[in-house]
Amino acid sequence: MKKLVVLSGAGISAESGIKTFRESNGLWENHEVTDVASPEGWERDPHLVLDFYNQRRKQLLECEPNAGHKGIVELEKNFDVHVITQNVDNLHERAGSSKILHLHGELTKVESTKDKNLVYDLDGWELKWGDKCEKGAQLRPHIVWFGEAVPAIEPAIELTRAADILVVVGTSLNVYPAAGLINYVSKRTPIYLIDPGQPLYTPAPNITFINEKASTGVQKLINLLSQ
Ligand code: OAD
Repeated sequence: MKKLVVLSGAGISAESGIKTFRESNGLWENHEVTDVASPEGWERDPHLVLDFYNQRRKQLLECEPNAGHKGIVELEKNFDVHVITQNVDNLHERAGSSKILHLHGELTKVESTKDKNLVYDLDGWELKWGDKCEKGAQLRPHIVWFGEAVPAIEPAIELTRAADILVVVGTSLNVYPAAGLINYVSKRTPIYLIDPGQPLYTPAPNITFINEKASTGVQKLINLLSQ
């Protein structure tokens, strides 16, 4: 089976009701990204950060995977599909994708502020000040904040290098190192970009741009690949 690697971003979850980042004037649900998604923001006001991610988790409970997520599952019938996602939601999992690598962490998990290797599934949506790890340190959201290392980038690079087909869906390709993954495919590897807007990319013979929302764009991709 050919290896098909999907690099997804906020746009794939837009039709499930989760706002993208760069279409909100640099604000994330009315907050400066640096206030809620950086180690400095956490130092300054951990209560604000905890509340922010609690609200995101609560919102996620009301969201369902859309036809874009489901179409990517459908691709597993004919391809060895690996999803690399920048999203912290769990909509790829809930749609049924079997191989998912989260580059920027996961909303449903929390980690120790003392030892990053101590990661736990959170029961319910609320992480409180005073919730501690087994070493007695405060727990924080399991999210890769700006300025932090992206540990999953190495396996993501390996997957992208080995891709027979790369599908990029719903990402503006603005945030590194994720955006740099596209440079690891070989020159002959076909790349399909699904986005209703105009993402940054360099036109090349191996790139097909499907200028549509994820719901219809992924379906179009399935049709193209079955030809
Ligand atoms: P962006 O908000 O930068 O880009 C979203 C992309 O999705 C844009 O290119 C939109 O045109 C496109 N889009 C909008 N609606 C769509 C739809 N219905 N179907 C398909 N595409 C659609 O989001 P990301 O590229 O994911 O990092 O942002 C990357 C990272 O920046 C995020 O993971 C986050 C953020 O700061 C962290 O939280 C660490």
